[in-house]
Amino acid sequence: MSAWLSRKVSSLNLQELNEFDGSQEQKQALKELGKEFEITTDKLRSIVKQFTFEMQKGLERHGAKVAMIPSFVTGKPTGMESGTYLAIDLGGTNLRVCKVDLLGNGKVEIQQQKYIVPEAMKVGEMRQLCDFIADSVDMFLTEIDTDSYSETLQLGFTFSFPVNLRTINRGNLMQWTKGYCCTGAIGKDPGLMLQDSFRRKNMKVNVAAIVNDTVGTLMAHAYRDPTTFMGIIFGTGTNAAYFEKMDNITKWEDDITSDEMVVNMEWGAFDEERRVLPMTIYDNRLDRESINPGTHIYEKMISGMYLGEIVRNMTLGLVDQLLLFNGKSSPELNKKWSFETSHMSAIEIDTSSDLADTQYVLETVLGIPSTTLLDREMVKTLCRLVGIRAARLSAAGVAAVMTHCNLLPQDACTAAVDGSVFEFYPHFSHNMMKALKELFGEDVEQKIKFSQSHDGSGLGAAVIAMQVSKGNS
Ligand code: BGC
Repeated sequence: MSAWLSRKVSSLNLQELNEFDGSQEQKQALKELGKEFEITTDKLRSIVKQFTFEMQKGLERHGAKVAMIPSFVTGKPTGMESGTYLAIDLGGTNLRVCKVDLLGNGKVEIQQQKYIVPEAMKVGEMRQLCDFIADSVDMFLTEIDTDSYSETLQLGFTFSFPVNLRTINRGNLMQWTKGYCCTGAIGKDPGLMLQDSFRRKNMKVNVAAIVNDTVGTLMAHAYRDPTTFMGIIFGTGTNAAYFEKMDNITKWEDDITSDEMVVNMEWGAFDEERRVLPMTIYDNRLDRESINPGTHIYEKMISGMYLGEIVRNMTLGLVDQLLLFNGKSSPELNKKWSFETSHMSAIEIDTSSDLADTQYVLETVLGIPSTTLLDREMVKTLCRLVGIRAARLSAAGVAAVMTHCNLLPQDACTAAVDGSVFEFYPHFSHNMMKALKELFGEDVEQKIKFSQSHDGSGLGAAVIAMQVSKGNS
Protein backbone atom coordinates (compact mmCIF):
# COMPACT_ATOMS: atom_id res chain seq x y z
CA MET A 1 0.00 0.00 0.00
CA SER A 2 1.35 3.48 -0.78
CA ALA A 3 2.78 5.45 2.10
CA TRP A 4 0.21 8.20 1.85
CA LEU A 5 -2.67 5.81 2.33
CA SER A 6 -1.19 3.86 5.20
CA ARG A 7 -1.11 7.00 7.36
CA LYS A 8 -3.59 6.93 10.18
CA VAL A 9 -5.75 9.63 8.76
CA SER A 10 -7.87 12.16 10.48
CA SER A 11 -7.93 14.54 7.59
CA LEU A 12 -6.98 14.37 3.98
CA ASN A 13 -4.35 16.79 2.82
CA LEU A 14 -4.72 17.41 -0.89
CA GLN A 15 -0.91 17.44 -1.25
CA GLU A 16 -0.95 13.78 -0.19
CA LEU A 17 -2.61 12.89 -3.46
CA ASN A 18 0.65 13.72 -5.27
CA GLU A 19 2.15 10.61 -3.70
CA PHE A 20 -0.56 8.42 -5.16
CA ASP A 21 0.91 5.85 -7.60
CA GLY A 22 -1.85 6.04 -10.21
CA SER A 23 -1.81 7.56 -13.69
CA GLN A 24 -1.84 11.32 -14.26
CA GLU A 25 -5.55 11.12 -15.14
CA GLN A 26 -6.37 9.22 -11.96
CA LYS A 27 -4.35 11.67 -9.85
CA GLN A 28 -6.02 14.60 -11.52
CA ALA A 29 -9.51 13.12 -10.98
CA LEU A 30 -8.85 12.50 -7.28
CA LYS A 31 -7.43 15.99 -6.83
CA GLU A 32 -10.50 17.52 -8.38
CA LEU A 33 -12.75 15.47 -6.13
CA GLY A 34 -10.57 16.45 -3.16
CA LYS A 35 -11.16 20.11 -3.94
CA GLU A 36 -14.91 19.68 -4.40
CA PHE A 37 -15.28 17.89 -1.07
CA GLU A 38 -12.94 20.12 0.91
CA ILE A 39 -14.47 22.24 3.68
CA THR A 40 -11.84 24.83 4.60
CA THR A 41 -11.91 26.63 7.93
CA ASP A 42 -13.19 29.76 6.18
CA LYS A 43 -15.97 27.76 4.57
CA LEU A 44 -16.85 26.30 7.96
CA ARG A 45 -17.10 29.83 9.36
CA SER A 46 -19.48 30.95 6.66
CA ILE A 47 -21.63 27.84 7.17
CA VAL A 48 -21.83 28.49 10.93
CA LYS A 49 -22.82 32.10 10.26
CA GLN A 50 -25.65 31.10 7.94
CA PHE A 51 -26.69 28.39 10.42
CA THR A 52 -27.10 30.82 13.33
CA PHE A 53 -29.01 33.15 11.01
CA GLU A 54 -31.43 30.37 10.02
CA MET A 55 -31.84 29.30 13.66
CA GLN A 56 -32.81 32.85 14.55
CA LYS A 57 -35.35 32.95 11.69
CA GLY A 58 -36.87 29.66 12.88
CA LEU A 59 -37.27 31.01 16.42
CA GLU A 60 -38.96 34.15 15.13
CA ARG A 61 -41.51 32.77 12.74
CA HIS A 62 -43.49 29.66 11.80
CA GLY A 63 -42.70 28.04 8.46
CA ALA A 64 -38.95 28.76 8.39
CA LYS A 65 -36.72 26.16 6.73
CA VAL A 66 -34.91 25.24 9.97
CA ALA A 67 -38.22 24.84 11.76
CA MET A 68 -37.00 25.22 15.41
CA ILE A 69 -40.07 23.39 16.76
CA PRO A 70 -41.01 24.00 20.42
CA SER A 71 -41.21 20.52 21.98
CA PHE A 72 -43.47 21.42 24.93
CA VAL A 73 -40.84 19.75 27.13
CA THR A 74 -39.87 22.30 29.75
CA GLY A 75 -38.78 20.58 32.92
CA LYS A 76 -35.34 19.09 33.37
CA PRO A 77 -35.52 15.65 34.94
CA THR A 78 -34.09 15.36 38.45
CA GLY A 79 -33.27 11.65 38.31
CA MET A 80 -35.63 11.09 41.24
CA GLU A 81 -38.64 10.31 39.04
CA SER A 82 -40.30 6.92 39.43
CA GLY A 83 -43.03 4.81 37.82
CA THR A 84 -43.59 2.45 34.89
CA TYR A 85 -44.02 3.80 31.37
CA LEU A 86 -44.07 2.51 27.84
CA ALA A 87 -41.95 3.91 25.06
CA ILE A 88 -41.81 3.16 21.37
CA ASP A 89 -39.40 4.36 18.74
CA LEU A 90 -40.16 4.59 15.05
CA GLY A 91 -37.81 6.27 12.65
CA GLY A 92 -34.96 4.02 11.63
CA THR A 93 -34.78 0.44 10.48
CA ASN A 94 -36.64 -1.05 13.44
CA LEU A 95 -39.59 -0.36 15.65
CA ARG A 96 -38.43 -0.55 19.25
CA VAL A 97 -40.92 -1.14 22.06
CA CYS A 98 -39.82 -0.66 25.68
CA LYS A 99 -41.21 -0.93 29.18
CA VAL A 100 -39.29 1.51 31.34
CA ASP A 101 -39.24 1.33 35.13
CA LEU A 102 -37.95 4.59 36.55
CA LEU A 103 -36.60 3.67 39.96
CA GLY A 104 -35.38 7.07 41.23
CA ASN A 105 -31.75 8.02 42.04
CA GLY A 106 -31.03 8.08 38.30
CA LYS A 107 -31.72 4.33 38.18
CA VAL A 108 -33.79 2.65 35.56
CA GLU A 109 -34.73 -0.79 34.28
CA ILE A 110 -35.66 -1.30 30.64
CA GLN A 111 -37.18 -4.31 28.94
CA GLN A 112 -37.34 -4.01 25.19
CA GLN A 113 -38.05 -5.77 21.95
CA LYS A 114 -37.23 -4.80 18.37
CA TYR A 115 -39.57 -5.45 15.47
CA ILE A 116 -38.42 -5.10 11.86
CA VAL A 117 -40.58 -2.64 9.94
CA PRO A 118 -41.21 -4.30 6.54
CA GLU A 119 -40.01 -2.06 3.69
CA ALA A 120 -43.51 -2.11 2.15
CA MET A 121 -44.92 -0.73 5.40
CA LYS A 122 -42.62 2.32 5.17
CA VAL A 123 -44.22 3.39 1.92
CA GLY A 124 -47.74 1.99 2.43
CA GLU A 125 -50.71 3.52 4.22
CA MET A 126 -50.11 5.32 7.52
CA ARG A 127 -53.13 3.64 9.07
CA GLN A 128 -51.56 0.24 8.37
CA LEU A 129 -48.27 1.36 9.86
CA CYS A 130 -50.07 2.49 13.04
CA ASP A 131 -51.88 -0.87 13.22
CA PHE A 132 -48.54 -2.63 12.87
CA ILE A 133 -47.17 -0.53 15.76
CA ALA A 134 -50.21 -1.29 17.94
CA ASP A 135 -49.93 -5.03 17.16
CA SER A 136 -46.23 -4.96 18.05
CA VAL A 137 -46.97 -3.21 21.38
CA ASP A 138 -49.69 -5.80 22.05
CA MET A 139 -47.28 -8.65 21.33
CA PHE A 140 -44.65 -7.07 23.56
CA LEU A 141 -47.06 -6.62 26.46
CA THR A 142 -48.14 -10.25 26.16
CA GLU A 143 -44.51 -11.40 26.04
CA ILE A 144 -43.41 -9.49 29.13
CA ASP A 145 -46.68 -10.34 30.88
CA THR A 146 -46.97 -6.90 32.45
CA ASP A 147 -49.07 -6.93 35.66
CA SER A 148 -49.83 -3.25 35.42
CA TYR A 149 -51.65 -3.78 32.11
CA SER A 150 -54.95 -3.62 33.99
CA GLU A 151 -54.41 0.16 34.22
CA THR A 152 -54.03 2.46 31.24
CA LEU A 153 -50.33 2.60 30.36
CA GLN A 154 -48.82 5.97 29.49
CA LEU A 155 -46.69 5.86 26.38
CA GLY A 156 -43.98 8.16 25.00
CA PHE A 157 -44.03 7.88 21.20
CA THR A 158 -40.62 8.59 19.72
CA PHE A 159 -41.52 9.57 16.20
CA SER A 160 -38.33 10.77 14.52
CA PHE A 161 -39.74 12.93 11.76
CA PRO A 162 -40.56 16.64 11.62
CA VAL A 163 -43.84 17.12 13.51
CA ASN A 164 -45.22 20.55 14.17
CA LEU A 165 -46.56 20.12 17.70
CA ARG A 166 -49.67 21.90 18.97
CA THR A 167 -49.47 20.21 22.36
CA ILE A 168 -47.14 17.62 23.84
CA ASN A 169 -49.12 14.76 22.23
CA ARG A 170 -50.79 16.40 19.25
CA GLY A 171 -49.28 17.80 16.05
CA ASN A 172 -49.02 17.49 12.29
CA LEU A 173 -46.44 15.60 10.29
CA MET A 174 -44.68 18.17 8.11
CA GLN A 175 -42.82 15.79 5.79
CA TRP A 176 -41.29 12.33 5.61
CA THR A 177 -37.53 11.79 5.66
CA LYS A 178 -35.10 8.83 5.76
CA GLY A 179 -36.88 6.70 3.15
CA TYR A 180 -40.30 6.66 4.84
CA CYS A 181 -43.12 7.81 2.60
CA CYS A 182 -46.49 6.52 3.91
CA THR A 183 -49.64 7.83 2.32
CA GLY A 184 -52.33 9.57 4.37
CA ALA A 185 -49.87 11.00 6.87
CA ILE A 186 -48.57 14.41 5.80
CA GLY A 187 -50.51 17.15 7.56
CA LYS A 188 -52.12 14.52 9.82
CA ASP A 189 -51.55 13.83 13.50
CA PRO A 190 -49.36 10.74 14.08
CA GLY A 191 -50.26 10.70 17.82
CA LEU A 192 -53.97 10.67 17.10
CA MET A 193 -53.63 8.04 14.37
CA LEU A 194 -51.69 5.73 16.69
CA GLN A 195 -54.20 6.35 19.50
CA ASP A 196 -56.93 5.33 17.07
CA SER A 197 -55.17 2.04 16.35
CA PHE A 198 -54.89 1.31 20.09
CA ARG A 199 -58.60 2.13 20.46
CA ARG A 200 -59.63 -0.14 17.59
CA LYS A 201 -57.70 -2.97 19.21
CA ASN A 202 -59.16 -2.23 22.67
CA MET A 203 -55.74 -1.61 24.14
CA LYS A 204 -55.44 0.48 27.29
CA VAL A 205 -52.52 2.59 26.12
CA ASN A 206 -52.49 6.36 26.07
CA VAL A 207 -50.14 8.25 23.74
CA ALA A 208 -49.00 10.77 26.35
CA ALA A 209 -46.30 12.46 24.30
CA ILE A 210 -44.92 12.66 20.76
CA VAL A 211 -41.17 12.83 21.20
CA ASN A 212 -38.50 13.58 18.63
CA ASP A 213 -35.48 11.26 19.08
CA THR A 214 -33.19 14.25 19.70
CA VAL A 215 -35.44 15.47 22.51
CA GLY A 216 -35.55 11.94 23.97
CA THR A 217 -31.76 11.68 23.77
CA LEU A 218 -31.37 15.01 25.55
CA MET A 219 -33.82 14.09 28.32
CA ALA A 220 -32.43 10.57 28.81
CA HIS A 221 -28.94 11.94 29.31
CA ALA A 222 -30.15 14.81 31.48
CA TYR A 223 -31.82 12.22 33.76
CA ARG A 224 -28.29 11.16 34.75
CA ASP A 225 -26.24 14.28 33.99
CA PRO A 226 -27.80 17.74 34.56
CA THR A 227 -25.06 19.53 32.55
CA THR A 228 -26.58 18.10 29.35
CA PHE A 229 -27.70 20.98 27.14
CA MET A 230 -28.11 19.35 23.75
CA GLY A 231 -29.24 16.05 22.21
CA ILE A 232 -27.91 15.14 18.77
CA ILE A 233 -28.53 12.28 16.35
CA PHE A 234 -25.88 11.36 13.79
CA GLY A 235 -27.45 8.16 12.47
CA THR A 236 -29.68 7.19 9.54
CA GLY A 237 -30.80 10.83 9.67
CA THR A 238 -29.49 13.80 11.64
CA ASN A 239 -30.96 16.46 13.90
CA ALA A 240 -30.46 18.23 17.22
CA ALA A 241 -32.46 19.62 20.14
CA TYR A 242 -31.33 21.98 22.92
CA PHE A 243 -32.68 24.00 25.85
CA GLU A 244 -33.74 27.47 24.64
CA LYS A 245 -34.84 30.46 26.72
CA MET A 246 -38.59 31.11 26.29
CA ASP A 247 -37.82 34.80 25.66
CA ASN A 248 -35.84 33.82 22.57
CA ILE A 249 -38.68 31.74 21.07
CA THR A 250 -40.41 34.87 19.86
CA LYS A 251 -42.93 32.99 17.69
CA TRP A 252 -44.38 31.35 20.86
CA GLU A 253 -47.76 32.98 21.55
CA ASP A 254 -49.28 31.07 24.49
CA ASP A 255 -48.87 31.70 28.20
CA ILE A 256 -46.21 29.68 29.86
CA THR A 257 -44.62 29.76 33.28
CA SER A 258 -41.38 28.03 32.42
CA ASP A 259 -38.17 29.97 31.56
CA GLU A 260 -36.94 27.47 29.00
CA MET A 261 -38.11 24.80 26.63
CA VAL A 262 -36.42 22.13 24.53
CA VAL A 263 -36.44 23.13 20.85
CA ASN A 264 -36.33 20.43 18.17
CA MET A 265 -34.29 22.20 15.51
CA GLU A 266 -34.93 19.88 12.53
CA TRP A 267 -31.49 20.97 11.35
CA GLY A 268 -31.49 18.46 8.46
CA ALA A 269 -33.36 21.15 6.52
CA PHE A 270 -30.53 23.67 6.90
CA ASP A 271 -29.65 25.62 3.74
CA GLU A 272 -32.43 24.31 1.56
CA GLU A 273 -32.02 27.62 -0.26
CA ARG A 274 -28.51 26.43 -1.13
CA ARG A 275 -26.60 29.49 -0.04
CA VAL A 276 -23.52 27.97 1.56
CA LEU A 277 -23.44 24.18 1.40
CA PRO A 278 -20.95 23.11 -1.28
CA MET A 279 -23.13 20.59 -3.10
CA THR A 280 -21.42 18.53 -5.77
CA ILE A 281 -22.96 16.78 -8.77
CA TYR A 282 -22.89 13.58 -6.71
CA ASP A 283 -25.02 15.20 -3.99
CA ASN A 284 -27.40 16.58 -6.59
CA ARG A 285 -27.86 13.19 -8.18
CA LEU A 286 -28.62 11.62 -4.81
CA ASP A 287 -31.03 14.39 -3.91
CA ARG A 288 -32.90 14.10 -7.19
CA GLU A 289 -33.40 10.37 -6.72
CA SER A 290 -34.41 10.55 -3.06
CA ILE A 291 -38.01 10.41 -1.81
CA ASN A 292 -37.79 14.07 -0.77
CA PRO A 293 -35.91 15.94 -3.53
CA GLY A 294 -34.84 19.50 -2.76
CA THR A 295 -35.32 19.12 0.98
CA HIS A 296 -33.16 18.06 3.92
CA ILE A 297 -29.98 18.58 1.89
CA TYR A 298 -27.76 19.08 4.96
CA GLU A 299 -28.99 15.71 6.27
CA LYS A 300 -28.17 14.15 2.90
CA MET A 301 -24.54 15.32 3.13
CA ILE A 302 -23.89 13.93 6.61
CA SER A 303 -26.09 11.04 7.62
CA GLY A 304 -25.85 7.29 7.38
CA MET A 305 -28.74 6.75 5.00
CA TYR A 306 -26.92 8.74 2.31
CA LEU A 307 -23.10 8.71 2.65
CA GLY A 308 -22.63 5.37 0.89
CA GLU A 309 -24.82 6.50 -1.98
CA ILE A 310 -22.64 9.57 -2.51
CA VAL A 311 -19.57 7.29 -2.70
CA ARG A 312 -21.43 5.02 -5.14
CA ASN A 313 -22.16 8.00 -7.39
CA MET A 314 -18.49 9.06 -7.28
CA THR A 315 -17.32 5.51 -7.96
CA LEU A 316 -19.53 5.19 -11.02
CA GLY A 317 -18.27 8.58 -12.22
CA LEU A 318 -14.69 7.26 -12.17
CA VAL A 319 -15.74 3.97 -13.81
CA ASP A 320 -17.36 5.91 -16.63
CA GLN A 321 -14.16 7.88 -17.15
CA LEU A 322 -12.33 4.50 -17.39
CA LEU A 323 -10.27 5.44 -14.34
CA LEU A 324 -11.49 2.66 -12.02
CA PHE A 325 -12.10 -1.12 -12.24
CA ASN A 326 -10.88 -1.08 -15.81
CA GLY A 327 -14.07 0.75 -16.75
CA LYS A 328 -16.35 -2.07 -15.51
CA SER A 329 -19.15 -1.79 -13.02
CA SER A 330 -21.41 -4.60 -11.76
CA PRO A 331 -25.21 -5.06 -11.59
CA GLU A 332 -25.02 -4.70 -7.80
CA LEU A 333 -22.97 -1.48 -7.88
CA ASN A 334 -25.36 -0.10 -10.48
CA LYS A 335 -28.25 -0.52 -8.02
CA LYS A 336 -29.25 2.59 -6.08
CA TRP A 337 -28.37 2.47 -2.36
CA SER A 338 -26.28 -0.71 -2.75
CA PHE A 339 -23.14 0.96 -1.34
CA GLU A 340 -24.09 1.12 2.33
CA THR A 341 -22.44 3.49 4.76
CA SER A 342 -21.31 0.44 6.77
CA HIS A 343 -19.24 -0.58 3.71
CA MET A 344 -17.52 2.80 3.92
CA SER A 345 -16.68 2.17 7.58
CA ALA A 346 -15.21 -1.23 6.73
CA ILE A 347 -13.10 0.34 3.97
CA GLU A 348 -11.94 3.26 6.11
CA ILE A 349 -10.65 1.03 8.91
CA ASP A 350 -8.96 -1.35 6.52
CA THR A 351 -5.22 -0.84 7.03
CA SER A 352 -4.07 -4.20 5.67
CA SER A 353 -1.23 -3.96 3.13
CA ASP A 354 -3.39 -5.34 0.30
CA LEU A 355 -6.63 -3.70 1.49
CA ALA A 356 -8.19 -7.14 1.81
CA ASP A 357 -11.39 -5.98 3.51
CA THR A 358 -11.88 -3.36 0.82
CA GLN A 359 -11.41 -6.07 -1.78
CA TYR A 360 -14.05 -8.18 -0.01
CA VAL A 361 -16.57 -5.32 -0.06
CA LEU A 362 -15.90 -4.46 -3.70
CA GLU A 363 -15.62 -7.94 -5.18
CA THR A 364 -17.74 -10.18 -2.94
CA VAL A 365 -20.42 -7.78 -1.70
CA LEU A 366 -20.67 -5.47 -4.69
CA GLY A 367 -19.73 -8.01 -7.35
CA ILE A 368 -16.96 -6.10 -9.18
CA PRO A 369 -15.25 -8.90 -11.18
CA SER A 370 -11.71 -7.93 -10.14
CA THR A 371 -9.96 -4.98 -8.51
CA THR A 372 -6.34 -3.88 -8.34
CA LEU A 373 -4.73 -2.45 -5.23
CA LEU A 374 -4.82 0.91 -6.97
CA ASP A 375 -8.58 0.62 -7.50
CA ARG A 376 -9.04 -0.16 -3.83
CA GLU A 377 -6.87 2.78 -2.79
CA MET A 378 -8.94 5.07 -4.96
CA VAL A 379 -12.23 3.87 -3.46
CA LYS A 380 -10.77 4.27 0.02
CA THR A 381 -9.88 7.87 -0.84
CA LEU A 382 -13.46 8.52 -1.96
CA CYS A 383 -14.75 7.19 1.38
CA ARG A 384 -12.34 9.41 3.27
CA LEU A 385 -13.39 12.50 1.32
CA VAL A 386 -17.07 11.89 2.03
CA GLY A 387 -16.52 10.85 5.66
CA ILE A 388 -14.34 13.84 6.52
CA ARG A 389 -16.74 16.27 4.86
CA ALA A 390 -19.63 14.75 6.83
CA ALA A 391 -17.81 15.18 10.14
CA ARG A 392 -16.82 18.78 9.39
CA LEU A 393 -20.33 19.75 8.30
CA SER A 394 -21.70 18.10 11.44
CA ALA A 395 -19.32 20.21 13.50
CA ALA A 396 -20.77 23.32 11.84
CA GLY A 397 -24.22 22.50 13.26
CA VAL A 398 -22.83 21.98 16.75
CA ALA A 399 -20.77 25.17 16.47
CA ALA A 400 -23.88 27.13 15.46
CA VAL A 401 -25.75 26.02 18.59
CA MET A 402 -22.71 26.79 20.75
CA THR A 403 -22.44 30.25 19.20
CA HIS A 404 -26.17 30.95 19.45
CA CYS A 405 -26.28 29.89 23.11
CA ASN A 406 -23.01 31.71 23.86
CA LEU A 407 -21.65 28.58 25.49
CA LEU A 408 -17.92 29.17 25.25
CA PRO A 409 -17.56 31.49 28.24
CA GLN A 410 -19.58 29.08 30.38
CA ASP A 411 -18.58 26.00 32.30
CA ALA A 412 -18.08 22.74 30.49
CA CYS A 413 -21.26 21.27 29.05
CA THR A 414 -22.34 17.98 27.58
CA ALA A 415 -23.99 17.10 24.31
CA ALA A 416 -25.69 13.69 24.35
CA VAL A 417 -25.20 11.96 21.01
CA ASP A 418 -26.78 8.87 19.52
CA GLY A 419 -26.65 7.28 16.09
CA SER A 420 -24.65 4.80 14.07
CA VAL A 421 -22.50 7.36 12.25
CA PHE A 422 -21.25 8.87 15.50
CA GLU A 423 -20.78 5.46 17.09
CA PHE A 424 -19.27 3.44 14.28
CA TYR A 425 -17.92 5.67 11.52
CA PRO A 426 -14.11 5.67 11.84
CA HIS A 427 -12.58 8.98 13.02
CA PHE A 428 -15.97 10.76 12.88
CA SER A 429 -15.92 12.29 16.37
CA HIS A 430 -12.19 13.05 16.08
CA ASN A 431 -12.72 14.89 12.80
CA MET A 432 -15.68 16.75 14.25
CA MET A 433 -13.63 17.91 17.23
CA LYS A 434 -10.77 18.91 14.92
CA ALA A 435 -13.15 21.22 13.03
CA LEU A 436 -14.46 22.68 16.31
CA LYS A 437 -10.88 23.41 17.37
CA GLU A 438 -10.26 25.27 14.10
CA LEU A 439 -13.32 27.39 14.85
CA PHE A 440 -12.99 27.96 18.59
CA GLY A 441 -9.38 27.12 19.55
CA GLU A 442 -7.75 24.11 21.16
CA ASP A 443 -9.42 24.44 24.55
CA VAL A 444 -12.90 23.84 23.08
CA GLU A 445 -12.19 20.21 23.90
CA GLN A 446 -12.45 21.09 27.59
CA LYS A 447 -15.67 23.04 27.02
CA ILE A 448 -17.85 20.54 25.24
CA LYS A 449 -18.05 16.84 25.89
CA PHE A 450 -19.81 14.52 23.44
CA SER A 451 -21.33 11.65 25.36
CA GLN A 452 -22.67 8.58 23.63
CA SER A 453 -26.26 8.06 24.72
CA HIS A 454 -28.15 4.93 23.71
CA ASP A 455 -31.48 5.13 25.44
CA GLY A 456 -33.10 8.32 24.18
CA SER A 457 -36.03 6.67 22.55
CA GLY A 458 -36.63 4.42 25.57
CA LEU A 459 -35.65 6.22 28.74
CA GLY A 460 -36.02 9.72 27.25
CA ALA A 461 -39.53 9.11 25.92
CA ALA A 462 -40.53 7.47 29.22
CA VAL A 463 -39.21 10.40 31.28
CA ILE A 464 -41.26 12.76 29.11
CA ALA A 465 -44.40 10.56 29.39
CA MET A 466 -43.85 10.62 33.15
CA GLN A 467 -43.54 14.42 33.21
CA VAL A 468 -46.76 14.73 31.22
CA SER A 469 -48.74 12.31 33.37
CA LYS A 470 -47.53 14.10 36.52
CA GLY A 471 -48.44 17.41 34.91
CA ASN A 472 -44.99 18.99 34.92
CA SER A 473 -43.68 18.89 31.37
C1 BGC B 1 -35.84 13.80 11.03
C2 BGC B 1 -35.68 14.23 12.47
C3 BGC B 1 -34.92 13.20 13.25
C4 BGC B 1 -33.62 12.86 12.55
C5 BGC B 1 -32.80 11.81 13.28
C6 BGC B 1 -34.51 13.38 10.45
O1 BGC B 1 -34.69 12.84 9.18
O2 BGC B 1 -36.38 14.84 10.25
O3 BGC B 1 -36.94 14.47 13.06
O4 BGC B 1 -34.67 13.69 14.54
O5 BGC B 1 -33.89 12.38 11.26
O6 BGC B 1 -33.48 10.62 13.41
